[in-house]
Amino acid sequence: TWTTEAFVEEAIREVRAKVGDKRVLLALSGGVDSSTLAFLMHRAIGDNLTCMFIDQGFMRKYEPERLVKLFEEQFHIPVQYVNARERFLTKLEGVTDPEKKRKIIGHEFIGVFEEESSRLGPFDYLAQGTLYPDVIESADTNVDPQTGERVAVKIKSHHNVGGLPKDLRFKLVEPLRKLFKDEVRKVGRSIGLPEEIVRRHPFPGPGLAIRIIGEVTPERLRILRDADFVVRDEISKQGIYHDFWQAFAVLLPVRSVGVMGDQRTYAHPVVLRFVSSEDGMTADWSRVPYDLLEIISNRMVNEVKGVNRVVYDITSKPPGTIEWE
Ligand code: XMP
Repeated sequence: TWTTEAFVEEAIREVRAKVGDKRVLLALSGGVDSSTLAFLMHRAIGDNLTCMFIDQGFMRKYEPERLVKLFEEQFHIPVQYVNARERFLTKLEGVTDPEKKRKIIGHEFIGVFEEESSRLGPFDYLAQGTLYPDVIESADTNVDPQTGERVAVKIKSHHNVGGLPKDLRFKLVEPLRKLFKDEVRKVGRSIGLPEEIVRRHPFPGPGLAIRIIGEVTPERLRILRDADFVVRDEISKQGIYHDFWQAFAVLLPVRSVGVMGDQRTYAHPVVLRFVSSEDGMTADWSRVPYDLLEIISNRMVNEVKGVNRVVYDITSKPPGTIEWE
């Protein structure tokens, strides 16, 4: 029978046999796959592993700090933290088209990845948190026709981007490639990852940037980050976080009139998007209690400066998508 302990031991042996004393680069994303991978790789090869975390500036409140802290203080795995926030924001100035935003973020990510990997490198291998379904999906694209070996052609969290330049086509080490998501979660839990990471809702590579409709500005990011925090905080407190496939806030670039005390307000509406789903391909809007909506709405308007209205999305997928961009 399959046990997490047996898997971990076997994966460590396999990694050691494959990479020997070569150097390996790993890009942490904050999700369960790359976090579990980092732990395994570090157990297998220690200092020959370099964990890099590129902060695009689009993660949720406290997430980057917590991730770095978890790895450095609890796991004693050093993390190369790359603060690229300004750089991504600058590139997105004036950009409103959703696909353009994704492209720019993806390309910028590869640019930063390239610079940082040559600064920290050279590396022989790239460790990726490829899972079994990803292997099937990329069956031929990731194989070098000359050697038959799997090589990195894309960064896992930025599927939508064209691909890695030739000189970044590291050989891959993918110790999670035989696992399904629920198995990675089991392994993640067994090595002591917090539930916050193990059962995190799916979060897109471009992060909060595609949940701000239209142009991304520092002020809008601040508003959405605070609004997103209210959603997560409230459903976690009520113990219902895991009742949803995803539950998040979307910031609209329009403003509407409201009133607070004896003051007229003119501020942004926030959309609540709560869905249930099996795999993200189709989804149902969640029939949440009115009381929950009321609490979130009150907190949102009172705690998040710049928001004066909250609306609930009652569109399933199809015809809607889960994200708004
Ligand atoms: P949609 O909006 O297409 O989303 O119904 C389906 C699932 O995919 C996630 N998603 C993304 N994930 N990069 C990602 O890594 C992206 O650009 C992206 N866009 C959507 C979305 O959160 C949902 O789980």
